[in-house]
Amino acid sequence: MKRSHLLLAGSLITVGVMVGSSLPGTVIAGQAGVAEKGVESRNEKWAEKFPNQFKTWMQTSENDTITDMLEKKPQLAVLWAGYGFAKDYNAPRGHFYAVQSNINSLRTGAPVGPATGPMPTACWTCKSPDVPRLIEEQGELEYFTGKWAKYGNEMANAIGCADCHSSQTAELTISRPYLERGLEAIGVDTKNIDSESMRSLACAQCHSEYYFKATEWTDKKGEKKVAKVVTLPWDNGLTAEDMEKYYDELGFKDWTHKISKAPMLKAQHPGYEIFSTGIHAKSGVSCADCHMPSTTEGDETFSDHHIASPMENIETVCLGCHDQEAEELKAVIETKFERKEQLMEIAMDSIAKAHLEAGKAWEIGATETEMKEILTDIRHAQWKWDYAIASHGSFFHAPEETLRLLAVANETAQTARLKLVQVLAKHGAVDFIAPDFSDKTKAQALAQVPLAKLVEEKENFRATLLKEWEKQATAKGLLDPATRKGMSDKTSYMK
Ligand code: HEC
Ligand code: HEC
Ligand code: HEC
Ligand code: HEC
Repeated sequence: MKRSHLLLAGSLITVGVMVGSSLPGTVIAGQAGVAEKGVESRNEKWAEKFPNQFKTWMQTSENDTITDMLEKKPQLAVLWAGYGFAKDYNAPRGHFYAVQSNINSLRTGAPVGPATGPMPTACWTCKSPDVPRLIEEQGELEYFTGKWAKYGNEMANAIGCADCHSSQTAELTISRPYLERGLEAIGVDTKNIDSESMRSLACAQCHSEYYFKATEWTDKKGEKKVAKVVTLPWDNGLTAEDMEKYYDELGFKDWTHKISKAPMLKAQHPGYEIFSTGIHAKSGVSCADCHMPSTTEGDETFSDHHIASPMENIETVCLGCHDQEAEELKAVIETKFERKEQLMEIAMDSIAKAHLEAGKAWEIGATETEMKEILTDIRHAQWKWDYAIASHGSFFHAPEETLRLLAVANETAQTARLKLVQVLAKHGAVDFIAPDFSDKTKAQALAQVPLAKLVEEKENFRATLLKEWEKQATAKGLLDPATRKGMSDKTSYMK
């Protein structure tokens, strides 16, 4: 947070008490870390030296709630038909559960050995400090080569200290090389990042849009391999339109939609990007100002590492900068949320219907030429909706941008639907009405998701290979089973 911005900020802000600014990187600069070399991925190894940070970091285990978003918003299963997210998608939980959520998700499938399963290694990238450890030990391209199951016995620790801090100096660091490349693409000198920027960039390592870029390489033994490298599509800039252009020019698609056959993009939480367009970012406020406020216990002041929703903590988080009642601010947040919900529902409905109407058009003989523009509209509509929504918290971080994108998404989907009316009429289905997708069962049936089979396979995997992974990780000294004692193990599918 830059002081000069705040001084200009007017009556909303009381300048006297400012969270965040009293805790720059200097607090720990020069202070030795926890290892002489390498990446110390075991969070508990940091506890002795940094007890307050460890204790509050552990509190991210408090939010273990599974909110099945497909049940809450069944349109999602139609929007993602043919893609993993139509199988299983839950709202985010505390960082403590990142590895477990990833393993339990039906999206990661049920591998039976290191070279099987639907997902690449890249799927671990935002879950564990074992990722920077492996990148350092094996090289980035080797890390990004192979199937997700290749590293099942290596990913033992959930998002923690070494994701954000250097194991040698304990200073904030960028542990993911792809973020450095993304920043360089937008002209940031990554050798000279100031400590204030790091208070957001630490989060941007994971709360950003990315795709898997297929990259050919040759290993030391001369073997040719293809890595799926996490890549930030930032070359043209950070807005939804900038990234859409990037993907369009590349001819990239994440998948072909099962119903409409549209070449789809999946937005992966561009949280940092959309936050950057909002008033807080423009005023120099960083992610850590609100999600890791400064706290004092006894005579010790430190950053609260219990990263969570600030909603229950408005006094500490917001009132350092805002001269308002907590209740008033809470109501402001709630209103912003409701406005987003309303436009989001409309956009999701329009896009889901567009997919189903396009499906019908194909069924009754529509041609590629008739469908081409329509499918591009659907692709663009869904991308903008997803960019706005997958960035959790965007309704607060950047409310205007969120509502703008939802409005554009709806308009683009409706344009596709108008064109579809003509195509449907031409092929004799002028009265077609999209089928009902008002609950998860109906929506997943339309998306042709074989849920019972997926769950059965997953349960098998959890009872067999997963147990092996845990044993192996423990034997290697990567996993201390005591750290998972009493840990809940909830999923959307085990009732
Ligand atoms: C998601 C990123 C993230 C994770 C995970 C994380 N930290 Fe931090 N940490 C931060 C940020 C941001 C700051 C604030 C630094 C600043 O203001 O310059 C910070 C500050 C600190 C400081 C400096 C004193 C203070 O409290 O401000 C220490 C020490 C520290 N963290 C230790 C840890 C330890 C130990 C762990 C693991 C138990 C951990 N951190 C996990 C991001 C993280
Ligand atoms: C290494 C990747 C990574 C980093 C770094 C990271 N996050 Fe996360 N974050 C995630 C993942 C993955 C989840 C979802 C975990 C789950 O559902 O199991 C998540 C969840 C969250 C949640 C939801 C928590 C809840 O209880 O609802 C918040 C808030 C959040 N992150 C904020 C931040 C902030 C702020 C930073 C930077 C200080 C940050 N994250 C850094 C990957 C990361
Ligand atoms: C000015 C304060 C503020 C700043 C700065 C801020 N956030 Fe948030 N964040 C919030 C609020 C308020 C919410 C909404 C919480 C809710 O709905 O319960 C939120 C929600 C979130 C969520 C969703 C949590 C959930 O469980 O759904 C994530 C993830 C998140 N923020 C990450 C970030 C990241 C990453 C940054 C920086 C790029 C950031 N935030 C910057 C205040 C802030
Ligand atoms: C580090 C300081 C800081 C923190 C912490 C902070 N804000 Fe702000 N907030 C600002 C600044 C600066 C502005 C821009 C004010 C302006 O330009 O008039 C702002 C603007 C706002 C606005 C008006 C803009 C909009 O998006 O509607 C709201 C509402 C708001 N903040 C709510 C909150 C809430 C709620 C929290 C806690 C979750 C919070 N802020 C935390 C500094 C802060």
